[in-house]
Amino acid sequence: MEKNIALCLCIIVSLFAITSAEDPYKFFDWKVSYGDISPLGVAQQGILINGQFPGPDINSVTNDNLIINVFNNLDEPFLLSWSGVLQRRNSYQDGVSGTNCPIPPGKNFTYTLQVKDQIGSFYYFPSLAFHKAAGAFGGIRILSRPRIPVPFPTPADDYTVLIGDWYKSNHKDLRNQLDSGKVLSFPDGILINGRGPNRASFNVEKGKTYRLRISNVGLQNSLNFRIQNHNLTLVEVEGKHTIQTTYTSLDVHVGQSYSVLVTADQLDKDYYIVVSSRFISPVLTTTGILHYSKSAGSVSGPIPNGPTDVNFSLVQARSIRTNLTASGPRPNPQGTYHYGQINITRTMILSNSQGIVNGKQRYAINSVSYVAPDTPLKLADHFKIDGVFRPGSIQDKPTSGPIYLDTSVLQTDFKAFIEIVFQNDEDIIQSYHLDGYSFYIVGMEGGQWTTNSRKRYNLQDAISRCTTQVYPKSWTAVLLALDNVGMWNLRSEFWARQYLGQQFYVRVYTTSTSLKYEFPIPTNALLCGKASGRKVTIA
Ligand SMILES: *[C@@H]1O[C@H](CO)[C@@H](O)[C@H](O)[C@H]1NC(C)=O
Ligand SMILES: *[C@@H]1O[C@H](CO)[C@@H](O)[C@H](O)[C@H]1NC(C)=O
Ligand SMILES: *[C@@H]1O[C@H](CO)[C@@H](O)[C@H](O)[C@H]1NC(C)=O
Ligand SMILES: *[C@@H]1O[C@H](CO)[C@@H](O)[C@H](O)[C@H]1NC(C)=O
Ligand SMILES: *[C@@H]1O[C@H](CO)[C@@H](O)[C@H](O)[C@H]1NC(C)=O
Repeated sequence: MEKNIALCLCIIVSLFAITSAEDPYKFFDWKVSYGDISPLGVAQQGILINGQFPGPDINSVTNDNLIINVFNNLDEPFLLSWSGVLQRRNSYQDGVSGTNCPIPPGKNFTYTLQVKDQIGSFYYFPSLAFHKAAGAFGGIRILSRPRIPVPFPTPADDYTVLIGDWYKSNHKDLRNQLDSGKVLSFPDGILINGRGPNRASFNVEKGKTYRLRISNVGLQNSLNFRIQNHNLTLVEVEGKHTIQTTYTSLDVHVGQSYSVLVTADQLDKDYYIVVSSRFISPVLTTTGILHYSKSAGSVSGPIPNGPTDVNFSLVQARSIRTNLTASGPRPNPQGTYHYGQINITRTMILSNSQGIVNGKQRYAINSVSYVAPDTPLKLADHFKIDGVFRPGSIQDKPTSGPIYLDTSVLQTDFKAFIEIVFQNDEDIIQSYHLDGYSFYIVGMEGGQWTTNSRKRYNLQDAISRCTTQVYPKSWTAVLLALDNVGMWNLRSEFWARQYLGQQFYVRVYTTSTSLKYEFPIPTNALLCGKASGRKVTIA
């Protein structure tokens, strides 16, 4: 009897799936403007979205279509990008200078993106002109569809926690430092959800469990996150459900996102949430408040100390693994894709460096320091405009020569299965992000990568994510299937490095023009540079 009901339900569900072929649409109207903020007690010019700093969260469900009309009321060109949103077949909506013309002051652009086959915690941010130092970032959450199992009970509440280093100077002053050839100065503090010390508060009820979606939206510093007298159970990393490991604190590198569960199992009072910088001296620390609803007292006691060594971080990073039996965006287990059994068709070793070019500070990958052309690469490709970039303008392996400027584009074949080794011979911690993809992080070690290092790869349950750290004088190796045609930005998340050239584009190319592989240029595409005045025609 029960079986029949189940079968019956199943038929109704699948009928429904056929009749409602169109996925839901969600509409957003966003006004981007300057506004006064003073998170560190000093008035400064922030960038707000609909008057908010940080910007509003985007709440979505797997496969939702997000229609986001962005009105630029700044005095400068502006773009938003959607970190970790895979933009399948659709790099035209990625919102970085290589894919989109900037939205001119006083104008608007409507992004049309779909969070296809995704779940998890991400964020959006302004991609141009060092705007990220002034705000305009916010959380993106993609919930599982109602019938897809999630490997933990529904939390009592779900909080976005945006953490990041912060400067009291406005973004134009910081940008001037970089434009004049200097390195970025030391940050002034750390913010939690745009607020200074003890100004961000999260309400909990004793006995209940909460989800915190933590993203590091700062400019360069890795941050350690911890809560006085409470442990953190990691459940999701950039769209993958993890083995549920409990940590006393978590290192969140710049550009990364993590979901943890926190159970309010202590006495009814307030507790410190602590965020402190890693791998730099002096250490910057800020606090927020975990507030029990029946709290009998304010925060007290010593602020818990964070880790101080690199090894803690490396050991923690290696412990973050995919729960192969948990569902992802679909009901089937996340682990059914056997990335460890696919033959690698190309290996790239990417080495970061810094130096002076023409008297100015620059940063490079394999000796090339990226210079953005006036025409987005993606539009040059679409309109077949010559002279904007040369495919193959960055080498697969580090070169020994000095840093030089170029519009670096790596040419790759659609459906190749590639290995990227991020080799960091510098003394800083590096963080790399690739748009349009998530990659399997198969290895991380100190020293130089060699082909022998492959023997120690995790080919079973590596986490797949879109942003990885690379420890000082260390390497990180990732594997990925190039299954998403388009023009995709690979960049340092260390924002001054990104701004001064430590990025390039990966052109994932096919000769086919089938819509199966790539969506057409959007009819509202903004045109600029050598693409100005061209006609957007739909075949
Ligand atoms: C600007 O917004 C209007 C609606 O206010 C919309 O019709 C138009 O398509 C938008 N422009 C672009 C380039 O998306
Ligand atoms: C993995 O996910 C399964 C399925 O939801 C769950 O039962 C199991 O507890 C999870 N395992 C770990 C180690 O997190
Ligand atoms: C947190 O975890 C550690 C190690 O697993 C354990 O010793 C400690 O009792 C836990 N603390 C709380 C508050 O649950
Ligand atoms: C760091 O960990 C590695 C192994 O993971 C070990 O060989 C090394 O001695 C550790 N270093 C320190 C300073 O603890
Ligand atoms: C992988 O490469 C090996 C030899 O290098 C070959 O024998 C094998 O068939 C290849 N596997 C696949 C799936 O192409």
